[in-house]
Amino acid sequence: MKGIILAAGKGTRLYPISYPISKILLPVYNKPMIYYPLSTLILAGIKEIMIITNKDDQENFKKTLGDGSRFGVNITYEVQYEQRGIADAFIIAEDFIANERVVLILGDNIYHGACMRNLLGKAARNKEGCTVFVYEVPDPERFGVAELDPQNNVISLEEKPSSPKSNYAVTGLYFYDSNVCGFAKKLEPSARGELEITDLNKVYLSNGNLKACVMEHGYTWLDAGTFESFRDAANTVHGIEDRTDRMVGCPEDAAAEVGFMTAAEIRELIINEKSEYYDRVRKRLDGL
Ligand code: DAU
Repeated sequence: MKGIILAAGKGTRLYPISYPISKILLPVYNKPMIYYPLSTLILAGIKEIMIITNKDDQENFKKTLGDGSRFGVNITYEVQYEQRGIADAFIIAEDFIANERVVLILGDNIYHGACMRNLLGKAARNKEGCTVFVYEVPDPERFGVAELDPQNNVISLEEKPSSPKSNYAVTGLYFYDSNVCGFAKKLEPSARGELEITDLNKVYLSNGNLKACVMEHGYTWLDAGTFESFRDAANTVHGIEDRTDRMVGCPEDAAAEVGFMTAAEIRELIINEKSEYYDRVRKRLDGL
């Protein structure tokens, strides 16, 4: 299974702080935002990862993550030259996906939960169709919204509806079967000129092949796209890391958890690192 992180947005909602650098490289508490979605893909057991960036920021992403070997994964990079929509990722990455199954995560989506690995594993076992992750929010009109029946089957999907049919936001993490590139290529741009991820998911819905995984209490999902959600994300991560011995969005920790790297290998790589982040990583590794 392949993994894609979509990180090509201009971050206009965070101007002026995202003028000089991609929003996805800005710090969320003690690590760059990209660490969070990267950790989620690693926890899902994915080793082959493509990061789609805009042209100007690609070098900065490479400086931040390199080829991924520090985290036991293989990272390649591709450019999205125009904001053609989230589903465009499957056209850009078609050769990389190479008819395999694929997971897409948006660069500004942060997931946390003690059972996250199990939840991701459950989705990965669905070999056919698409699995989305839904989360109850007070402001569903800001997101893609899923209407569910009592058995949690998806009845309808809408992108940022003015009168949402439920409080379930469709979060920015999607598991697809190998048909996804073919479906993406057939999409028409929406009224705002984008290939919409919700339109792609509706294809799976109408084929009876869309599953929703409800993230219940005990999971945290944050979309760090606005000043307020950006600040909330940093506070939430700080709160969790301060109160527990866990780390949120730590790719070294995730790599050790899934066995991509041993604790000894990671300790050796960070031997000269002096920041509080690495002190915490060492403490985590001691506990494994
Ligand atoms: O965060 C979850 C939500 O993400 C979903 O509930 C919505 O269904 C989905 O459309 C999306 O909504 P957003 O309003 O958050 O999408 P936005 O345009 O802000 O893009 C999300 C991220 O993807 C952002 O970091 C920029 C990046 N992106 C987006 C587009 C349209 C790209 O890299 N390229 C693109 O062409």
